[in-house]
Amino acid sequence: MLTQIEFGQICDVVYYECGINLNGDKKQLLESRLAKRLRATGINLVSDYLRLIKEDEGEKLRFLDAVSTNHTYFFRESRHFQCLQPHHQTIWCAACSSGEEPYSVAIGCLEKGFKPTIRATDISTRVLQIGKKAIYPVEKAKSIPSHLLKKYFDRGIGKWEGYIRVKKDLRDMVTFKRFNLLNDPPPQERFNVIFCRNVLMYFDNEVKERVVNRLYKALKWNGYFIIGGAESLAGITHLYKYIEPSIYQKVSS
Ligand SMILES: C[S@@+](CC[C@H](N)C(=O)[O-])C[C@H]1O[C@@H](n2cnc3c(N)ncnc32)[C@H](O)[C@@H]1O
Repeated sequence: MLTQIEFGQICDVVYYECGINLNGDKKQLLESRLAKRLRATGINLVSDYLRLIKEDEGEKLRFLDAVSTNHTYFFRESRHFQCLQPHHQTIWCAACSSGEEPYSVAIGCLEKGFKPTIRATDISTRVLQIGKKAIYPVEKAKSIPSHLLKKYFDRGIGKWEGYIRVKKDLRDMVTFKRFNLLNDPPPQERFNVIFCRNVLMYFDNEVKERVVNRLYKALKWNGYFIIGGAESLAGITHLYKYIEPSIYQKVSS
């Protein structure tokens, strides 16, 4: 059981490292996820573990992996793909989790007859590995329309029975890389569309404002900024033009 002080210290680390605001109702969840890391490292005291993650970058990453919520699925909120257009040659999925989002975007574009390059980033190295491998349990196929499943995925056989894999041509469109949304995007890169869906909800307004305005700089003029359907930019200062719920655009005034 975490004491209130230990819980506060862990929350401070998570907030500082990835901007996620864990509040009181996440205490139980945090305890069970932390317990796994304590067992794995053979550490008994939370204070010792806090010291370890300050000194050991690898364990800090494993800790952040353990506390982040990576829920995602293929073709989530696919109405967003309607705004994808053939001149959109560079697309960024900025909290891509295990790859279902960037691969769905890639399929959405191919089905419209164009082939962009897609940058897929996340803070969690664990989910990025899954995205790179592009192998998913067959249950994940449920949200994929059947004609697209046939066209863009291979079904595993033998020891891969029960799994599907994204076909190579599609895999080659997506590059996975670690990126923390609290950092400045590389100044030389500009995108036609940035998806930043279902992650802003974990940030408070201060962090959200910083992240959203940094991503603005990484967008090309007339580029789209797309957030999750349950999210909004209300209450923060930004320069985007509102297009429709969860879709914004960078337009010159
Ligand atoms: C709930 S998932 C959303 C995945 C996908 N965008 C979707 O809508 O299905 C949120 C993702 O945000 C990532 N994340 C959390 N904080 C982050 C940060 N500071 N920088 C980059 N990614 C972050 C988590 O690791 C997780 O994979």
